[in-house]
Amino acid sequence: MTSASTSLFDDARVAQGDDLIPVLDLGPFLAGTPGALEALAAGVRSALEEIGFFFIRNHGVPQTLVDRVFAENRRFHDEPDTRKLEIQVNERGLGYMPSGLQQPRYNKDEPPRLPDLGEAFFIGREIRAEDAKGDPVYQGGNQWPADLPGFRDALLGYYDAIEALSLKLLPVYATALELPPDAFDEAFLHNQPMGVLRVSHYPSTRCAENQWNASPHIDGDFITFLAQSEVPGLQLRIADGSWVQAPALPGTFLVNSGEILRLWSNGRFKATYHRVLNTSGQDRYAIPFFYSPSPETRIECLPTCCDDETPPKYRPVTVREYTDWFSHKVFVHLKDNPGVSPYYEGDRPDSAE
Ligand SMILES: [Fe+2]
Repeated sequence: MTSASTSLFDDARVAQGDDLIPVLDLGPFLAGTPGALEALAAGVRSALEEIGFFFIRNHGVPQTLVDRVFAENRRFHDEPDTRKLEIQVNERGLGYMPSGLQQPRYNKDEPPRLPDLGEAFFIGREIRAEDAKGDPVYQGGNQWPADLPGFRDALLGYYDAIEALSLKLLPVYATALELPPDAFDEAFLHNQPMGVLRVSHYPSTRCAENQWNASPHIDGDFITFLAQSEVPGLQLRIADGSWVQAPALPGTFLVNSGEILRLWSNGRFKATYHRVLNTSGQDRYAIPFFYSPSPETRIECLPTCCDDETPPKYRPVTVREYTDWFSHKVFVHLKDNPGVSPYYEGDRPDSAE
């Protein structure tokens, strides 16, 4: 599906409603080719202003590592429920989440939804619980299964690899927003950013009517990496309001921006609604990695994204305040920690069904 183009970025476009999601080649940028940073940044800018998603290839993350984490995902979820529930997700959002605990409700006037159908295992940065500063959600104290040798090493190796890739892309994002290349260094490199790896299992069981494996949502982070699975299921809502199936491109990652970047860029970079519906008849496994700046980072309109004619639209919030707000809207087990809404009226002004 990808073209054989040797340009600095490959804008071959794919989708099942085809030609929608750009494919960006990181090879020249990672090799330090002159001009590659600017060319890649132009591709990222275009993708995030238009659709909020892009694929990356030649990203440098070994496929063997990706395959190993998918295998560990299956191995973990094959464990008996009683074993998995020994490390049930806690008030930090870390551990095993059985089906039933993810039930997003972003707006008060939204009708209640059925809980999403699927189970997941969450880890954050591997630091001790007592070393977490302040509000500890996603910040230390991972819970590991006792009897799965190799599981922890595989997940932490993947966490480190995707974090390293994320950090390499910071100058690309800064350049895409016409900022100095080091503009995001303070929020990520000089502090402790927040990464969450979600190890998801969507059963082959069909969802009920008005139920999804992951109901329509916008990610709550800065950047999300979704390794490609052989079983499709991710759908995204395009500008005309219709939903399209994201194609599976072997060896790539599907990358999207979340609400932290949308708020920071004053809405210039899209955070696109997406959902998961597994109609394949077989189990689907996914390993999204969510990455955000350090919790103390204050998210307020970047200088290149507002002026007298386009004033800031959102209330400034810290990453911690926003992450708590987002999490309490999504997860039953995190409902009691409301954080601070970035919307002046309290709720998100739009939704997707
Ligand atoms: Fe998502």
